[in-house]
Parts: sequence; structure tokens; C-alpha cells
Amino acid sequence: MSYLKLDVTKTKGFYDEKVYLDLEKEIYKSYDTLRNKNGLGNDYLGWLDLPLDYDKDEFRRIKEAAKKIKSDSDVLLSIGIGGSYLGAKSAVEMLKPYFGTNKNGVEVIFVGNHISSTYIADLKDYLKDKDFSINVISKSGTTTEPSIAFRIFKDLLIEKYGNDAAKRIYATTDKKKGALKTEADALGYQEFVVPDDVGGRYSVLTAVGLLPIACAGIDIDSMMEGALTAHKDYNVRDINKNDAMKYALLRNVLYKSGKKLEMLVNYEPKLIYFSEWWKQLFGESEGKNNKGIWITSASFSTDLHSLGQMIQQGERTIFETVISVEKPEREIKINKEESNLDGLNFLAGKDISYVNKMAMEGTMLAHVEGGVPNIRVTVPEISAFTYGYMVYFFELACGISAYTLGVNPFDQPGVESYKKNMFALLGKPGYEEMHDELVKKLK
Ligand code: PA5
Repeated sequence: MSYLKLDVTKTKGFYDEKVYLDLEKEIYKSYDTLRNKNGLGNDYLGWLDLPLDYDKDEFRRIKEAAKKIKSDSDVLLSIGIGGSYLGAKSAVEMLKPYFGTNKNGVEVIFVGNHISSTYIADLKDYLKDKDFSINVISKSGTTTEPSIAFRIFKDLLIEKYGNDAAKRIYATTDKKKGALKTEADALGYQEFVVPDDVGGRYSVLTAVGLLPIACAGIDIDSMMEGALTAHKDYNVRDINKNDAMKYALLRNVLYKSGKKLEMLVNYEPKLIYFSEWWKQLFGESEGKNNKGIWITSASFSTDLHSLGQMIQQGERTIFETVISVEKPEREIKINKEESNLDGLNFLAGKDISYVNKMAMEGTMLAHVEGGVPNIRVTVPEISAFTYGYMVYFFELACGISAYTLGVNPFDQPGVESYKKNMFALLGKPGYEEMHDELVKKLK
């Protein structure tokens, strides 16, 4: 039995059996394409066997670097965007306490994932009397947002530590080429590799994610074990035994049946950034050729008080995938109050997690009755192992699902459009003609 349980019973009645059976055949084809590595984007399949084949020497160096950072820094600045940011951010948020940091970890602060001058200025102030190190993560080394942040905080590092600044910079980048690689070689930063065959959104279990995650005091051995267990569990060509195939199937079946949006739902706010990671994974992999399930997310019960109305009675084009965690990390009971003005004494002595569970069960029933099919993904607990397991589950399902949709799961040509416009408007050399055209359009 697999560590993760997938329940698709609440999708019944929302599709035709023929659609299901036709797509089931396609899922098998997609699974074979992925495993045989003969599909679109097959240069980027390094993640597929990564839990088995990862670079053990690099892994050891990551742990050593994390140890050093923890011994000489209060804060690690993790500078990166997109696939060079979301994996680590999602793991750190999920696997640190809500308030403060893990006992054996430093505070990991993410920057370079937007262009807010206020955030950067506030962060400079925050770091004034703190020791810090930088992990700059960029495969190309020229992405605008992280490059700007790196300039600013490298300057601060030099101001603070002078000639020793370079010893506090850890560069995660391409093995052979690129601006960051050139700078790291020249100035002697410790270097880690973004593997050539692993795209940004599939890279969390490489140095891209693992260094900041280890600095946050998270057990990366256990995370890799979780991924390896999932690798074994889903290395089976049988849809009744392989839930990654089944999940990919149901998403496509629902999509074909008019459910154009998938909302990933959690009942534990620690998972909010896991949804952000998931959104990049599926969005960048599938949103092509005018196709793709629109992905969105919500955290319940918070968002039931904002989105709940829309989900229950709005346009019927949505389905939900609910991540359910069986056992909370911590428990707390509801106390009795003599006055009982809020009428809640009927819950006195009950665990808060019990109330959360009933909220989940009640919501799922209501939403299904309201025309929103539900897929439930249950994991036993929140842990590094679970994180690694879920990452592999969703990555595999995503590859299969995108092939079934008929798109290349591993490119992202559309991301370039905004960059070109931004460069032209900013006056980057080489974009002069486009600059004039855009300025005219803006008038
Ligand atoms: O998934 C992707 O490829 C993107 O999100 C990239 O990771 C992102 O644009 C950052 O690129 P880079 O690592 O080259 O700075």
C-alpha cells in the first residue's frame, strides 16, 4: 500500500464512462512515453530517476555548506525566482514552525522573487545587525529579479565582511556556462549545480532547493527517502496500483467533461506555498497551445469565508483536489467557558483537529452536492518524508497529464514574452527598435 492515498470516488457522476475509458488508454501511452524517454522535452527528464540517482557528493557538500552557514549566520538569503525559488520556499514554509525557525536551523529569507523596492529596503534594514550568507540560485545567471537582489545584497555583504564576503556566497547555477558561473569561478564562491536535464520547476530535490532547505534545519535525508519511496511506489504500469497515473487520468477526464479549473485545497496553512509550487509545476507544464487546466488554490477554512460562495454556487467549471493530512503535528483541546455566550460548550474537550476534520468532510460533501467534483489526496503527516513523497507524486502525475493533453511538459516558451517587453521598456541594449514600438503603444 502506498504512503499517499488517493480517493477519486467523489468524481463519479461528473463524467461519461466512455471519456474515462478513452483517456485511460492515453494515460498508459503517456506513462510509456515518459518511462521510455521518447516524448517531447525528453532532454529534461533528469528528475524522473533523481531520487535514485542523485549526486551523492554534491549532497554531502550541501550538508557541509548548511552546517557552516548555520554556524556563522543568523539568516540565509535565498535569492531566486520561479523554479529557483518555489521549491525551497514551499518546503521551508511547510516544515518550520509557524512562528520562528526550526531549533537546528537559521532563518531563511527569500528575495529576488519579485521587484518590490520596499521589500528590498526593509530587508536591508532587517539585516543591519545580523550575520548573514547568500545562496544565489539561477541557472542562467541573468534573470532580472534575482540579479538585482544579488547586486544589492552582495554590496551589503562586502560592506559588512570586506574581503571575507565571497566566503559567504554560495552560487547554485549551471555546471559550465552563464554569468553567475563566470562570476563564481572568478571570485571563488562555493558552487552547486543546477543539473542540465532538470528544469526549474522539477528541481527542488537538487541543490536548487536542498541547500536553503537544509539551512532551515530540515532533514533532507528523510526528504530524499520520501521521494525514493514514491519513485518505487509509482514505478508500476497499472492504473489501479499507480495513483500518479490515476490522478493524471481523473484531471484529464474532468477537464474533458467541462471542469476547466482545478483548485488545490489545504486545511493547514503551512501548505499554502506547497500550492504555489504545485501551481508553477502544472501551470508551466500544461498551459500551452491554448490548452491546459487553469490551476488555482485555496486554504480552508479561511477561504471558505471568501471563496466559499463562488465554489458552492458560481460557474460549474471547477473541481477540487484536497490535500488531507491525517495527523496534526500538534494537538490542542477546546476549553469550556461558564458563560457559553458563543454557544460552543458542545465542543469543550474536543480536539481542534477534530473540528478541522469535520469542516473538511462537511465542505467536501457540500461542494460535491453543489456540482464540484472532489479528488482527495491523503498523507499521514506533515514531515520532510511526506514533502519528498508528494513532490515526486505530483511531478510524475504532471508529466503524464501534460503528455495526455498533448503538450511538451518541460518547456515554457510563453514566459519570454513579458521579459522581452520589460527589457525593451527598460532600454536594454539590443531592444532599441522594440522600445520605440512599445512606447508608442503605451501612449
Ligand atoms: O521553471 C523555470 O524554468 C523558470 O521558472 C525558472 O526557474 C526561472 O525563470 C528562473 O530562471 P533562472 O534559474 O535561470 O534564474
